[in-house]
Amino acid sequence: MLLLQALSYSTIAVLFSLIFIGGYVSASGVGLTCPDWPLCPQGLLPHEDFIIEYSHRTVAATTSMLVIATMAFTLKSKAAPKAMKIASLIATGAVIGQITLGAIVIVERLHAILVTTHLGLGIVLFSMVLICAMYAHKLNGKKPVHAKAQ
Ligand code: HEM
Repeated sequence: MLLLQALSYSTIAVLFSLIFIGGYVSASGVGLTCPDWPLCPQGLLPHEDFIIEYSHRTVAATTSMLVIATMAFTLKSKAAPKAMKIASLIATGAVIGQITLGAIVIVERLHAILVTTHLGLGIVLFSMVLICAMYAHKLNGKKPVHAKAQ
């Protein structure tokens, strides 16, 4: 149970920083400093010319792994309620959508509708991860959903 809580809390913390970095990428106009996909011009190596965009992609990759891990542990958990399982599945769909959309945003050179959709899907993702974190918080010390009261 503690693992699922730690995972959910870490996911929301990392996702929050990703949204913060994404806002900074957009507001400071550095969205095309990594013009390629999926890697930046120097491959896996960061460089000061594109460090903000590089951070956005790196933190996005970390977030995706955390969201998928949260889903896997939520689905496995006997104590997790159905609503949490559904939220974790929607979060995984949203994170896959965000990565795909992120690539299209680059290929389409920051088309306004695509960037706005990227922001909107980010909000959906954040809401689902928040729901998971709230349910995980309530799970503390709870018995599995199907366990009989003695
Ligand atoms: C979980 C994954 C992701 C989330 C939650 C996320 C979230 C965000 C947010 C909230 C913004 C700010 C949007 C705005 O202020 O209008 C943003 C901007 C941006 N994101 Fe992501 N992002 C993710 C993944 C990616 C990926 C994988 C890429 C691929 C390159 C990407 C590329 C961009 C770009 C280029 C911008 C700046 C757009 C502009 O200059 O206006 N994002 N992201």
